[in-house]
Amino acid sequence: MGQGRFITIEGGEGAGKSTQIRALSQKLQSLDISFKCTREPGGSTGAEEIRRLLVEGVAGRWDATSEALLVLAARRDHLVKTVWPAMADGTWVLCDRFIDSTYAYQGYGHGLPLESLDQLHAFTLGEFRPDLTILIDLPVETGLERAHSRQDRETRFESLERDFHERVRHGFLERVKQDRARFLTLDGTQPLEQVTDQMIQAVLSRFELSVEE
Ligand SMILES: Nc1ncnc2c1ncn2[C@@H]1O[C@H](COP(=O)(O)OP(=O)(O)OP(=O)(O)O)[C@@H](O)[C@H]1O
Ligand SMILES: [Mg+2]
Repeated sequence: MGQGRFITIEGGEGAGKSTQIRALSQKLQSLDISFKCTREPGGSTGAEEIRRLLVEGVAGRWDATSEALLVLAARRDHLVKTVWPAMADGTWVLCDRFIDSTYAYQGYGHGLPLESLDQLHAFTLGEFRPDLTILIDLPVETGLERAHSRQDRETRFESLERDFHERVRHGFLERVKQDRARFLTLDGTQPLEQVTDQMIQAVLSRFELSVEE
């Protein structure tokens, strides 16, 4: 059975993360690979409780440092309770947002020192990193238009100013530059099916999966 893989999907609001996670999970299902979809912040009971503290309520409820510590506490719980046990069982884990969102939002977006985030992650994760991170890159305008066309109450990040989202986008792209081998960057302005095809082809080839199976 072997060790399960850990794949994270990153990008700004409305980039298509949830849509592509669904597409990838259908593909894994068709290949008879056992998998689990999860998200951050959240993905375990304790981490979902912390998520509510983070995403509900007014902008500015937490200062950037408190927010980062809450995110990291949730991340640790998610890994310990959900991700690592699943992987040990041979289950693949597809995660909507992970460490790179912390760098992009709390680091590049809110200006927390990147070295502090490195230290927090060394403490929380050790050497553990995703086997693959799919970044869906998209102009800020397009992503926000898509996100705003949906109805939900998790609107705090979306209501922050436009410059902030530009810094976030830039932050994701900087993360890619620092660890190219881990990333697959997709152009999110392409039609949905095209983004899906590129993602599936890359996953099949990276993990040496045969489509015949
Ligand atoms: N490549 C695409 N072209 C056009 N529309 C798309 C594309 N990808 C996703 N969409 C649409 O954009 C909207 C947002 O997509 P989705 O919810 O997957 O984004 P997300 O990255 O998960 O957003 P959020 O960060 O808010 O959770 C949906 O209505 C989806 O159908
Ligand atoms: Mg989503």
